[in-house]
Amino acid sequence: MTYKTQVGIIGAGPAGLLLSLLLHRQGIESVILEVQSRDAIEGTIKAGVLEHPTVELLKELGVGERMMKEGFEHHGIELAFGGKRHRIDLHELTGGKSIMVYPQHEVIKDLVGAVLANGTTIEFGVTEVSLHDVDGTQPTIRYKKDGAAGEVRCDFIGGCDGFHGPSRQAIPAAKRVEHLKVYPCGWFGILCEAPPSSDELIYAQSDRGFVLVSTRTPTIQRMYFQCDPTDNVNNWSEERIWAEFRARMANDDGWTLQEGPIFQKGIIAMRSFICETMQHGRLFLAGDSAHIVPPTGAKGLNLAAGDVVLLSKAIAGFYRHNAQAALDSYSTRAVQRVWRGEHFSWFMTSMLHDFEGEDTITRRFRRAQLDYVVNSRAAATSLAENYVGLPFEDMYA
Ligand code: APR
Ligand code: PHB
Repeated sequence: MTYKTQVGIIGAGPAGLLLSLLLHRQGIESVILEVQSRDAIEGTIKAGVLEHPTVELLKELGVGERMMKEGFEHHGIELAFGGKRHRIDLHELTGGKSIMVYPQHEVIKDLVGAVLANGTTIEFGVTEVSLHDVDGTQPTIRYKKDGAAGEVRCDFIGGCDGFHGPSRQAIPAAKRVEHLKVYPCGWFGILCEAPPSSDELIYAQSDRGFVLVSTRTPTIQRMYFQCDPTDNVNNWSEERIWAEFRARMANDDGWTLQEGPIFQKGIIAMRSFICETMQHGRLFLAGDSAHIVPPTGAKGLNLAAGDVVLLSKAIAGFYRHNAQAALDSYSTRAVQRVWRGEHFSWFMTSMLHDFEGEDTITRRFRRAQLDYVVNSRAAATSLAENYVGLPFEDMYA
């Protein structure tokens, strides 16, 4: 199969699907290539927090209906430490903004439905995806599907294929500026059948390590505890998992976690990664292909959304007015918000996790920072403004 289109998009994650919808709204065609099956991308469990700007974007694109019905709008989060819970009132501190707890795979289902309804092709289950002539004006993407060769000829390539995809590698190594930090911990995530333990997410710091209490539905809960990244889920029985949660959540208020049968367990790595070079010729990276955050700031999907808003406008300007400046400056502009999200994710991670072998001064700094954030309106406002998400454009306007 040979496609001729305006934008060839690699990857049907949040970045690729949103890019296609944003372009379609501007009358620009795209074709999406995805290595996985539709069932696989719609079923993979990932994080679940949508920032205020992302919620507004999904509504604006006409894909927010189910989110508004089935998602949970939260006006605050809690920080737990030293045996006490402290509320950060996101809504009040940000002039009425909030976040939405709505799982990423549900977002994916809504986006795939909308992209296909636009008549846009998504080729699922492709293999051997490679990028060619990204330096020229007619780049191509080659792939195989069911053993047959395929090609997408386009004006631009959207490299939205996640951290492990081929797009970033198509930028010559000598031109790529990259930064990586690996944290010496992972997150052990579970899904369990239980009622919610709390009306809002709880980010808890303890001497045994971090805990996050999140939710999915009134009967399914999502929780995480900080673990050794090389640990194996089979080392953790249900009883051991609950004992660890209980020990880390010990408090003075007589409050306990709602426990129930665990039906999913997994360990995720914690990294900060930024490829500052988000473009090369006619290839533009967006989302996880260019940057990864540790999940503590709940920023992954939201940073991807910010990238594609800028990219779609730059591409639209090119077709409409032959404008080149917004395309040329895409990387520089996108990376500014990425660095903000990266710093916030590092800040939350450092404030809430304990790492082996740390000196006592680092531990006391952490407690001093937590005390500051829950007691100073200025510090709480800074956390809240970052958590609900800075605007996609003109971030500091
Ligand atoms: N060819 C085509 N598609 C590919 C290839 C390839 N060679 N390699 C990977 N992909 C697909 C993946 O299967 C996945 O569906 O690209 C998609 C990338 O999606 P994500 O990894 O979800 O990345 P992105 O769209 O940037 O979304 C941002 O935010 O919450 C975080 O990590 C989380 O996925 C989330 C991300
Ligand atoms: C989740 O619900 O999976 C979740 C919530 C908040 C985070 C990370 C993950 O910071």
